[in-house]
Amino acid sequence: MNLVVGIGLRSGTPYRELRDLVASALEEAGGGTVRLVVTVAGRETEPGVQRLVASLNAELHTAPAEELARQPVPTPSEKVNHLTGTPGVAEAAVLLTGAQLLVTKRRSSNATTAIGRLPAAPGYAPAERNVVHRVIAERRDVRRGFVRRPIPADVLTRVLESAHRAPSVGLSQPWDFVLVRDVATRRKVHDLASAQRDAFAASLPPDRRQSFDGLKIEAILDTPLNIAVTCDAGRGGRHVLGRHADPRTTWFSVAIAIQNLWLAARAEGLGVGWVSFFEPTEVAAVLNLPAHIELVGYVCVGYVEEFATAPELVRTGWAERRPLAWAVHQEEWGHRGLPGIAPTSIVNDAVQAKPNAVQTNSRQLVRLIVGGDPAQYLQQPEALVVHLHAEKPSADFGVLWRPARTPVEAVELGVELARDLALQGVGEFDIQLVEQSELADAIARGLRVGASACGVTTAG
Ligand SMILES: Cc1cc2nc3c(=O)[nH]c(=O)nc-3n(C[C@H](O)[C@H](O)[C@H](O)COP(=O)(O)O)c2cc1C
Repeated sequence: MNLVVGIGLRSGTPYRELRDLVASALEEAGGGTVRLVVTVAGRETEPGVQRLVASLNAELHTAPAEELARQPVPTPSEKVNHLTGTPGVAEAAVLLTGAQLLVTKRRSSNATTAIGRLPAAPGYAPAERNVVHRVIAERRDVRRGFVRRPIPADVLTRVLESAHRAPSVGLSQPWDFVLVRDVATRRKVHDLASAQRDAFAASLPPDRRQSFDGLKIEAILDTPLNIAVTCDAGRGGRHVLGRHADPRTTWFSVAIAIQNLWLAARAEGLGVGWVSFFEPTEVAAVLNLPAHIELVGYVCVGYVEEFATAPELVRTGWAERRPLAWAVHQEEWGHRGLPGIAPTSIVNDAVQAKPNAVQTNSRQLVRLIVGGDPAQYLQQPEALVVHLHAEKPSADFGVLWRPARTPVEAVELGVELARDLALQGVGEFDIQLVEQSELADAIARGLRVGASACGVTTAG
Protein backbone atom coordinates (compact mmCIF):
# COMPACT_ATOMS: atom_id res chain seq x y z
CA MET A 1 0.00 0.00 0.00
CA ASN A 2 1.40 3.44 -1.00
CA LEU A 3 0.99 5.94 1.83
CA VAL A 4 1.19 9.71 2.15
CA VAL A 5 1.98 11.41 5.44
CA GLY A 6 0.63 14.93 5.98
CA ILE A 7 2.53 17.02 8.51
CA GLY A 8 1.76 20.31 10.26
CA LEU A 9 4.36 21.61 12.67
CA ARG A 10 5.63 24.57 14.63
CA SER A 11 8.99 25.86 13.56
CA GLY A 12 11.81 24.04 15.38
CA THR A 13 9.83 20.85 16.14
CA PRO A 14 12.50 18.22 16.87
CA TYR A 15 12.91 15.16 14.68
CA ARG A 16 12.21 12.74 17.55
CA GLU A 17 8.81 14.26 18.21
CA LEU A 18 7.87 14.00 14.51
CA ARG A 19 9.24 10.46 14.26
CA ASP A 20 7.22 9.21 17.26
CA LEU A 21 4.02 10.96 16.15
CA VAL A 22 4.25 9.58 12.61
CA ALA A 23 5.25 6.09 13.81
CA SER A 24 2.15 5.75 16.00
CA ALA A 25 -0.13 7.08 13.21
CA LEU A 26 1.44 4.62 10.75
CA GLU A 27 0.76 1.81 13.18
CA GLU A 28 -2.89 2.82 13.24
CA ALA A 29 -2.91 2.81 9.44
CA GLY A 30 -1.95 -0.87 9.54
CA GLY A 31 1.29 -0.72 7.52
CA GLY A 32 2.33 0.22 4.01
CA THR A 33 5.17 2.14 2.35
CA VAL A 34 5.40 5.87 2.82
CA ARG A 35 6.07 7.36 -0.64
CA LEU A 36 5.29 10.96 0.12
CA VAL A 37 5.45 13.47 2.96
CA VAL A 38 3.47 16.66 2.38
CA THR A 39 3.58 19.85 4.41
CA VAL A 40 2.77 23.52 4.02
CA ALA A 41 5.14 25.60 1.86
CA GLY A 42 7.91 27.11 3.99
CA ARG A 43 8.23 24.15 6.36
CA GLU A 44 10.31 22.05 3.93
CA THR A 45 13.51 23.56 5.30
CA GLU A 46 12.77 22.44 8.85
CA PRO A 47 15.58 20.07 9.90
CA GLY A 48 13.08 17.79 11.68
CA VAL A 49 11.03 17.42 8.48
CA GLN A 50 14.08 16.80 6.35
CA ARG A 51 15.34 14.10 8.67
CA LEU A 52 11.92 12.48 8.82
CA VAL A 53 11.67 12.38 5.02
CA ALA A 54 15.17 10.93 4.74
CA SER A 55 14.45 8.26 7.37
CA LEU A 56 11.27 7.24 5.53
CA ASN A 57 13.10 7.28 2.17
CA ALA A 58 10.14 9.26 0.79
CA GLU A 59 9.62 12.30 -1.46
CA LEU A 60 8.85 15.66 0.14
CA HIS A 61 6.17 17.85 -1.43
CA THR A 62 4.85 21.18 -0.22
CA ALA A 63 1.63 23.04 -0.91
CA PRO A 64 0.77 26.71 -0.40
CA ALA A 65 -1.60 27.46 2.50
CA GLU A 66 -4.27 28.77 0.07
CA GLU A 67 -4.35 25.42 -1.70
CA LEU A 68 -4.56 23.50 1.58
CA ALA A 69 -7.40 25.79 2.70
CA ARG A 70 -9.53 24.55 -0.21
CA GLN A 71 -9.52 20.94 1.02
CA PRO A 72 -12.64 19.81 2.96
CA VAL A 73 -10.87 18.52 6.09
CA PRO A 74 -12.82 16.45 8.65
CA THR A 75 -11.14 18.12 11.65
CA PRO A 76 -10.85 21.86 10.94
CA SER A 77 -9.36 24.20 13.55
CA GLU A 78 -10.14 27.91 13.89
CA LYS A 79 -6.88 28.43 15.76
CA VAL A 80 -4.77 26.87 12.98
CA ASN A 81 -6.74 28.88 10.41
CA HIS A 82 -5.94 32.07 12.27
CA LEU A 83 -2.22 31.23 12.49
CA THR A 84 -1.57 29.72 9.07
CA GLY A 85 -4.45 30.74 6.78
CA THR A 86 -5.79 27.18 6.43
CA PRO A 87 -8.13 25.37 8.83
CA GLY A 88 -6.00 22.23 8.55
CA VAL A 89 -2.53 21.28 7.35
CA ALA A 90 -1.92 17.57 7.91
CA GLU A 91 -5.31 16.30 6.69
CA ALA A 92 -5.48 18.87 3.88
CA ALA A 93 -1.98 17.88 2.73
CA VAL A 94 -3.11 14.25 2.47
CA LEU A 95 -6.36 15.08 0.66
CA LEU A 96 -4.58 17.35 -1.82
CA THR A 97 -2.70 14.36 -3.24
CA GLY A 98 -5.97 12.60 -4.09
CA ALA A 99 -5.35 10.10 -1.27
CA GLN A 100 -8.04 8.51 0.87
CA LEU A 101 -7.70 9.49 4.56
CA LEU A 102 -6.86 6.41 6.66
CA VAL A 103 -5.87 8.16 9.89
CA THR A 104 -7.34 11.59 10.69
CA LYS A 105 -5.41 14.27 12.52
CA ARG A 106 -3.18 13.05 15.37
CA ARG A 107 -1.43 15.56 17.57
CA SER A 108 1.78 15.94 19.60
CA SER A 109 2.89 19.06 21.49
CA ASN A 110 4.15 20.87 18.40
CA ALA A 111 2.96 18.91 15.37
CA THR A 112 0.04 17.19 13.69
CA THR A 113 -0.03 14.31 11.26
CA ALA A 114 -2.56 12.44 9.13
CA ILE A 115 -2.08 9.37 6.95
CA GLY A 116 -3.62 8.62 3.57
CA ARG A 117 -3.59 5.85 0.99
CA LEU A 118 -2.32 7.05 -2.38
CA PRO A 119 -4.31 5.94 -5.42
CA ALA A 120 -1.04 5.49 -7.39
CA ALA A 121 2.69 6.10 -7.05
CA PRO A 122 3.24 9.87 -6.79
CA GLY A 123 4.77 12.06 -9.50
CA TYR A 124 7.35 14.72 -8.74
CA ALA A 125 6.63 17.75 -6.58
CA PRO A 126 5.19 20.60 -8.70
CA ALA A 127 8.43 22.63 -8.69
CA GLU A 128 10.49 19.64 -9.88
CA ARG A 129 7.87 18.69 -12.43
CA ASN A 130 7.98 22.22 -13.80
CA VAL A 131 11.75 21.96 -14.28
CA VAL A 132 11.30 18.86 -16.44
CA HIS A 133 8.65 20.55 -18.60
CA ARG A 134 10.75 23.69 -18.71
CA VAL A 135 13.89 22.00 -20.03
CA ILE A 136 11.78 20.31 -22.72
CA ALA A 137 10.17 23.61 -23.73
CA GLU A 138 13.42 25.59 -23.60
CA ARG A 139 15.65 23.11 -25.43
CA ARG A 140 16.69 24.75 -28.69
CA ASP A 141 18.55 23.75 -31.78
CA VAL A 142 21.44 26.23 -31.61
CA ARG A 143 23.57 27.22 -34.57
CA ARG A 144 24.70 30.72 -33.57
CA GLY A 145 26.22 32.58 -30.65
CA PHE A 146 28.68 29.95 -29.40
CA VAL A 147 31.32 31.24 -26.99
CA ARG A 148 34.93 30.17 -26.59
CA ARG A 149 34.70 28.14 -23.42
CA PRO A 150 35.87 24.57 -23.11
CA ILE A 151 33.42 21.93 -21.90
CA PRO A 152 34.70 20.39 -18.66
CA ALA A 153 35.01 16.60 -18.74
CA ASP A 154 32.62 16.10 -15.82
CA VAL A 155 29.89 18.17 -17.50
CA LEU A 156 30.26 16.26 -20.76
CA THR A 157 30.23 12.95 -18.90
CA ARG A 158 26.95 13.89 -17.19
CA VAL A 159 25.41 14.74 -20.56
CA LEU A 160 26.61 11.47 -22.09
CA GLU A 161 25.40 9.57 -19.03
CA SER A 162 21.90 10.96 -19.63
CA ALA A 163 22.06 10.01 -23.30
CA HIS A 164 23.21 6.54 -22.31
CA ARG A 165 20.21 6.14 -19.96
CA ALA A 166 17.82 6.26 -22.91
CA PRO A 167 15.34 3.45 -23.37
CA SER A 168 16.29 1.00 -26.12
CA VAL A 169 14.65 -1.95 -27.79
CA GLY A 170 15.45 -5.11 -25.80
CA LEU A 171 17.95 -2.99 -23.84
CA SER A 172 20.19 -3.34 -26.89
CA GLN A 173 21.74 0.15 -26.36
CA PRO A 174 22.70 0.34 -30.04
CA TRP A 175 24.33 3.78 -29.81
CA ASP A 176 27.93 4.98 -29.58
CA PHE A 177 29.19 8.54 -29.25
CA VAL A 178 32.20 9.60 -31.29
CA LEU A 179 33.61 12.81 -29.81
CA VAL A 180 35.19 14.89 -32.57
CA ARG A 181 37.35 17.84 -31.59
CA ASP A 182 40.06 17.73 -34.23
CA VAL A 183 39.75 20.78 -36.50
CA ALA A 184 41.02 19.02 -39.63
CA THR A 185 38.37 16.30 -39.25
CA ARG A 186 35.66 18.88 -38.59
CA ARG A 187 36.73 20.81 -41.69
CA LYS A 188 36.17 17.72 -43.81
CA VAL A 189 32.73 17.22 -42.25
CA HIS A 190 32.00 20.91 -42.77
CA ASP A 191 32.84 20.58 -46.47
CA LEU A 192 30.30 17.77 -46.77
CA ALA A 193 27.60 19.90 -45.13
CA SER A 194 28.45 22.88 -47.37
CA ALA A 195 28.05 20.74 -50.49
CA GLN A 196 24.65 19.51 -49.30
CA ARG A 197 23.65 23.04 -48.42
CA ASP A 198 24.42 24.16 -51.97
CA ALA A 199 22.48 21.23 -53.43
CA PHE A 200 19.43 22.01 -51.28
CA ALA A 201 19.61 25.72 -52.12
CA ALA A 202 19.70 24.89 -55.82
CA SER A 203 16.50 22.83 -55.46
CA LEU A 204 14.47 25.69 -53.99
CA PRO A 205 12.17 28.17 -55.77
CA PRO A 206 13.80 31.65 -55.89
CA ASP A 207 11.87 33.29 -52.99
CA ARG A 208 12.38 30.30 -50.71
CA ARG A 209 16.02 30.24 -51.67
CA GLN A 210 16.39 33.83 -50.61
CA SER A 211 15.01 33.00 -47.15
CA PHE A 212 17.23 29.93 -46.96
CA ASP A 213 20.34 31.98 -47.74
CA GLY A 214 19.78 33.86 -44.47
CA LEU A 215 19.65 30.69 -42.39
CA LYS A 216 22.56 29.08 -40.62
CA ILE A 217 22.25 25.32 -40.73
CA GLU A 218 25.28 24.09 -38.81
CA ALA A 219 27.91 25.08 -36.27
CA ILE A 220 30.51 22.43 -37.03
CA LEU A 221 33.50 24.77 -36.79
CA ASP A 222 31.94 27.24 -34.31
CA THR A 223 31.74 24.72 -31.49
CA PRO A 224 34.58 23.06 -29.57
CA LEU A 225 32.97 19.65 -29.84
CA ASN A 226 31.04 17.65 -32.42
CA ILE A 227 29.46 14.33 -31.49
CA ALA A 228 28.62 11.70 -34.09
CA VAL A 229 25.94 9.42 -32.65
CA THR A 230 25.95 6.05 -34.36
CA CYS A 231 23.84 2.91 -34.56
CA ASP A 232 24.97 -0.70 -34.55
CA ALA A 233 21.89 -2.40 -36.01
CA GLY A 234 23.13 -5.82 -34.95
CA ARG A 235 23.91 -4.95 -31.35
CA GLY A 236 22.63 -7.62 -29.01
CA GLY A 237 22.71 -10.41 -31.56
CA ARG A 238 19.81 -12.40 -32.93
CA HIS A 239 17.15 -12.44 -30.21
CA VAL A 240 16.83 -8.82 -29.13
CA LEU A 241 13.48 -8.55 -27.37
CA GLY A 242 11.01 -6.47 -29.39
CA ARG A 243 13.16 -5.96 -32.48
CA HIS A 244 12.11 -8.96 -34.55
CA ALA A 245 8.80 -7.45 -35.71
CA ASP A 246 10.04 -3.90 -36.27
CA PRO A 247 13.78 -3.44 -36.83
CA ARG A 248 13.27 0.35 -37.03
CA THR A 249 13.11 0.30 -33.24
CA THR A 250 16.92 0.09 -33.19
CA TRP A 251 17.23 3.48 -34.89
CA PHE A 252 14.41 4.93 -32.77
CA SER A 253 16.43 3.98 -29.70
CA VAL A 254 19.43 5.97 -30.95
CA ALA A 255 17.24 8.99 -31.72
CA ILE A 256 15.88 8.90 -28.17
CA ALA A 257 19.44 8.85 -26.82
CA ILE A 258 20.16 11.99 -28.85
CA GLN A 259 17.10 13.69 -27.38
CA ASN A 260 18.27 12.79 -23.87
CA LEU A 261 21.68 14.27 -24.73
CA TRP A 262 20.01 17.43 -26.05
CA LEU A 263 17.89 17.93 -22.92
CA ALA A 264 20.71 17.21 -20.49
CA ALA A 265 22.97 19.60 -22.42
CA ARG A 266 20.31 22.33 -22.18
CA ALA A 267 20.11 21.84 -18.43
CA GLU A 268 23.94 22.22 -18.27
CA GLY A 269 23.79 25.43 -20.32
CA LEU A 270 25.24 23.76 -23.43
CA GLY A 271 23.82 24.55 -26.85
CA VAL A 272 23.34 21.65 -29.28
CA GLY A 273 22.77 21.90 -33.02
CA TRP A 274 21.83 18.79 -35.03
CA VAL A 275 23.24 18.74 -38.57
CA SER A 276 21.67 16.44 -41.13
CA PHE A 277 22.97 18.06 -44.31
CA PHE A 278 24.96 14.92 -45.07
CA GLU A 279 24.95 11.72 -46.98
CA PRO A 280 25.56 9.62 -43.81
CA THR A 281 28.03 7.25 -45.43
CA GLU A 282 30.25 10.19 -46.41
CA VAL A 283 30.52 11.28 -42.77
CA ALA A 284 31.11 7.66 -41.78
CA ALA A 285 34.04 7.60 -44.24
CA VAL A 286 35.56 10.82 -42.84
CA LEU A 287 35.28 9.38 -39.33
CA ASN A 288 36.63 6.04 -40.50
CA LEU A 289 33.70 4.17 -38.95
CA PRO A 290 33.57 0.38 -39.35
CA ALA A 291 31.21 -0.61 -42.17
CA HIS A 292 28.50 -1.99 -39.83
CA ILE A 293 28.27 1.27 -37.85
CA GLU A 294 25.80 3.85 -39.24
CA LEU A 295 25.59 7.55 -38.52
CA VAL A 296 22.25 8.56 -37.01
CA GLY A 297 22.90 12.08 -35.76
CA TYR A 298 25.72 14.61 -35.90
CA VAL A 299 25.51 17.31 -33.24
CA CYS A 300 27.61 20.40 -32.55
CA VAL A 301 27.97 21.22 -28.87
CA GLY A 302 29.23 24.26 -26.96
CA TYR A 303 28.42 27.01 -24.49
CA VAL A 304 26.29 29.80 -25.95
CA GLU A 305 25.53 33.47 -25.33
CA GLU A 306 21.83 32.75 -25.01
CA PHE A 307 19.07 30.27 -25.73
CA ALA A 308 16.37 31.73 -27.95
CA THR A 309 12.81 31.45 -26.70
CA ALA A 310 11.53 30.11 -30.05
CA PRO A 311 13.03 27.93 -32.79
CA GLU A 312 15.16 29.85 -35.28
CA LEU A 313 12.97 28.60 -38.14
CA VAL A 314 9.96 30.18 -36.41
CA ARG A 315 11.76 33.44 -35.63
CA THR A 316 12.85 33.83 -39.24
CA GLY A 317 9.37 32.98 -40.62
CA TRP A 318 10.63 29.82 -42.38
CA ALA A 319 8.13 27.54 -40.61
CA GLU A 320 5.63 27.54 -37.76
CA ARG A 321 4.86 25.17 -34.94
CA ARG A 322 1.90 22.84 -35.47
CA PRO A 323 -0.87 23.22 -32.88
CA LEU A 324 -1.07 20.20 -30.58
CA ALA A 325 -4.82 19.92 -31.26
CA TRP A 326 -4.00 19.04 -34.89
CA ALA A 327 -1.87 16.12 -33.78
CA VAL A 328 -4.11 14.41 -31.22
CA HIS A 329 -6.73 11.92 -32.46
CA GLN A 330 -9.26 10.43 -30.07
CA GLU A 331 -9.88 6.72 -30.63
CA GLU A 332 -9.98 7.02 -34.43
CA TRP A 333 -7.77 8.77 -36.96
CA GLY A 334 -9.31 12.10 -37.85
CA HIS A 335 -11.24 12.66 -34.58
CA ARG A 336 -8.94 15.43 -33.45
CA GLY A 337 -8.92 17.27 -30.18
CA LEU A 338 -7.08 17.73 -26.92
CA PRO A 339 -7.86 15.48 -23.94
CA GLY A 340 -11.05 16.57 -22.22
CA ILE A 341 -12.33 18.37 -25.33
CA ALA A 342 -14.85 16.85 -27.73
CA PRO A 343 -13.00 15.88 -30.91
CA THR A 344 -13.84 17.49 -34.22
CA SER A 345 -13.08 16.77 -37.85
CA ILE A 346 -10.31 18.64 -39.57
CA VAL A 347 -12.86 20.17 -41.96
CA ASN A 348 -15.01 21.60 -39.13
CA ASP A 349 -11.89 22.83 -37.40
CA ALA A 350 -10.76 24.63 -40.56
CA VAL A 351 -14.22 26.07 -41.26
CA GLN A 352 -14.47 27.41 -37.72
CA ALA A 353 -10.79 28.36 -37.94
CA LYS A 354 -10.66 29.98 -34.55
CA PRO A 355 -8.98 28.25 -31.65
CA ASN A 356 -6.33 26.43 -33.68
CA ALA A 357 -5.90 28.89 -36.53
CA VAL A 358 -2.43 29.42 -37.98
CA GLN A 359 -2.09 32.35 -40.35
CA THR A 360 0.66 32.37 -42.92
CA ASN A 361 2.41 35.66 -43.69
CA SER A 362 4.35 34.30 -46.60
CA ARG A 363 3.74 34.59 -50.32
CA GLN A 364 5.67 31.46 -51.26
CA LEU A 365 3.91 29.69 -54.15
CA VAL A 366 3.34 25.95 -54.44
CA ARG A 367 1.91 24.49 -57.64
CA LEU A 368 -0.18 21.47 -56.62
CA ILE A 369 -0.47 19.06 -59.53
CA VAL A 370 -3.18 16.57 -58.66
CA GLY A 371 -2.68 13.28 -60.49
CA GLY A 372 0.04 14.37 -62.89
CA ASP A 373 3.02 12.37 -64.09
CA PRO A 374 5.86 13.45 -61.78
CA ALA A 375 8.46 13.26 -64.55
CA GLN A 376 6.65 16.06 -66.38
CA TYR A 377 6.62 18.51 -63.47
CA LEU A 378 9.49 17.89 -61.12
CA GLN A 379 11.91 20.16 -62.92
CA GLN A 380 9.77 23.06 -61.63
CA PRO A 381 11.00 23.70 -58.06
CA GLU A 382 7.58 25.00 -56.92
CA ALA A 383 5.71 21.88 -58.14
CA LEU A 384 4.30 19.26 -55.77
CA VAL A 385 2.62 16.31 -57.48
CA VAL A 386 -0.19 14.78 -55.41
CA HIS A 387 -0.75 11.08 -56.00
CA LEU A 388 -4.24 10.00 -54.85
CA HIS A 389 -4.22 6.29 -55.48
CA ALA A 390 -3.49 3.18 -53.44
CA GLU A 391 -0.16 2.18 -54.98
CA LYS A 392 2.75 3.97 -53.37
CA PRO A 393 4.83 6.07 -55.79
CA SER A 394 8.58 5.61 -55.74
CA ALA A 395 10.02 8.00 -53.18
CA ASP A 396 10.68 11.52 -54.30
CA PHE A 397 10.47 14.75 -52.37
CA GLY A 398 8.33 16.30 -55.09
CA VAL A 399 5.61 13.60 -54.98
CA LEU A 400 3.16 13.44 -52.13
CA TRP A 401 1.24 10.20 -51.59
CA ARG A 402 -2.30 10.83 -50.33
CA PRO A 403 -4.20 7.58 -50.97
CA ALA A 404 -7.77 8.80 -50.42
CA ARG A 405 -10.26 5.95 -49.97
CA THR A 406 -13.39 8.08 -50.31
CA PRO A 407 -14.21 11.62 -51.47
CA VAL A 408 -14.85 12.59 -47.81
CA GLU A 409 -11.35 11.43 -46.91
CA ALA A 410 -9.95 13.28 -49.92
CA VAL A 411 -11.47 16.54 -48.63
CA GLU A 412 -9.87 15.93 -45.22
CA LEU A 413 -6.51 15.15 -46.80
CA GLY A 414 -6.79 18.36 -48.80
CA VAL A 415 -7.41 20.44 -45.66
CA GLU A 416 -4.52 18.75 -43.89
CA LEU A 417 -2.16 19.29 -46.81
CA ALA A 418 -3.12 22.97 -46.99
CA ARG A 419 -2.46 23.43 -43.28
CA ASP A 420 0.84 21.55 -43.40
CA LEU A 421 2.10 23.62 -46.32
CA ALA A 422 1.01 26.85 -44.59
CA LEU A 423 3.14 25.78 -41.60
CA GLN A 424 6.09 25.47 -43.98
CA GLY A 425 5.69 29.07 -45.11
CA VAL A 426 3.53 28.56 -48.21
CA GLY A 427 1.26 31.54 -48.93
CA GLU A 428 -0.17 30.74 -52.34
CA PHE A 429 -1.49 27.59 -54.06
CA ASP A 430 -1.87 27.11 -57.77
CA ILE A 431 -4.05 23.98 -57.98
CA GLN A 432 -3.95 22.06 -61.26
CA LEU A 433 -6.25 19.06 -61.66
CA VAL A 434 -4.53 16.86 -64.22
CA GLU A 435 -6.66 13.93 -63.11
CA GLN A 436 -10.41 14.33 -63.69
CA SER A 437 -12.05 12.32 -60.91
CA GLU A 438 -14.29 12.66 -57.88
CA LEU A 439 -11.27 12.21 -55.62
CA ALA A 440 -9.31 14.93 -57.41
CA ASP A 441 -12.25 17.36 -57.12
CA ALA A 442 -12.62 16.48 -53.44
CA ILE A 443 -8.97 17.05 -52.53
CA ALA A 444 -9.05 20.36 -54.40
CA ARG A 445 -12.11 21.39 -52.33
CA GLY A 446 -10.26 20.43 -49.14
CA LEU A 447 -7.19 22.38 -50.25
CA ARG A 448 -9.32 25.51 -50.73
CA VAL A 449 -11.02 25.14 -47.33
CA GLY A 450 -7.69 24.60 -45.59
CA ALA A 451 -6.06 27.44 -47.52
CA SER A 452 -8.75 29.93 -46.61
CA ALA A 453 -8.47 28.97 -42.91
CA CYS A 454 -4.71 29.71 -42.98
CA GLY A 455 -4.79 32.86 -45.10
CA VAL A 456 -3.29 31.08 -48.13
CA THR A 457 -4.51 32.41 -51.48
CA THR A 458 -5.54 29.93 -54.17
CA ALA A 459 -5.65 29.96 -57.93
CA GLY A 460 -6.67 27.27 -60.38
C1 LIG B 1 16.66 14.85 -37.04
C2 LIG B 1 16.93 16.33 -37.05
C3 LIG B 1 17.75 16.88 -38.00
C4 LIG B 1 17.99 18.26 -38.01
N1 LIG B 1 18.86 18.79 -38.93
C5 LIG B 1 19.14 20.10 -38.90
C6 LIG B 1 20.10 20.66 -39.80
O1 LIG B 1 20.73 19.99 -40.59
N2 LIG B 1 20.34 21.98 -39.73
C7 LIG B 1 19.65 22.80 -38.86
O2 LIG B 1 19.88 23.99 -38.86
N3 LIG B 1 18.77 22.28 -37.96
C8 LIG B 1 18.51 20.96 -37.96
N4 LIG B 1 17.63 20.44 -37.07
C9 LIG B 1 17.00 21.32 -36.07
C10 LIG B 1 15.57 21.69 -36.43
O3 LIG B 1 15.56 22.66 -37.45
C11 LIG B 1 14.90 22.22 -35.16
O4 LIG B 1 14.82 21.18 -34.24
C12 LIG B 1 13.50 22.77 -35.40
O5 LIG B 1 13.55 23.87 -36.24
C13 LIG B 1 12.84 23.17 -34.09
O6 LIG B 1 13.65 24.06 -33.38
P1 LIG B 1 14.12 23.78 -31.89
O7 LIG B 1 14.88 22.49 -31.92
O8 LIG B 1 14.95 24.95 -31.51
O9 LIG B 1 12.88 23.64 -31.05
C14 LIG B 1 17.38 19.08 -37.05
C15 LIG B 1 16.55 18.51 -36.08
C16 LIG B 1 16.33 17.15 -36.07
C17 LIG B 1 15.44 16.56 -35.00
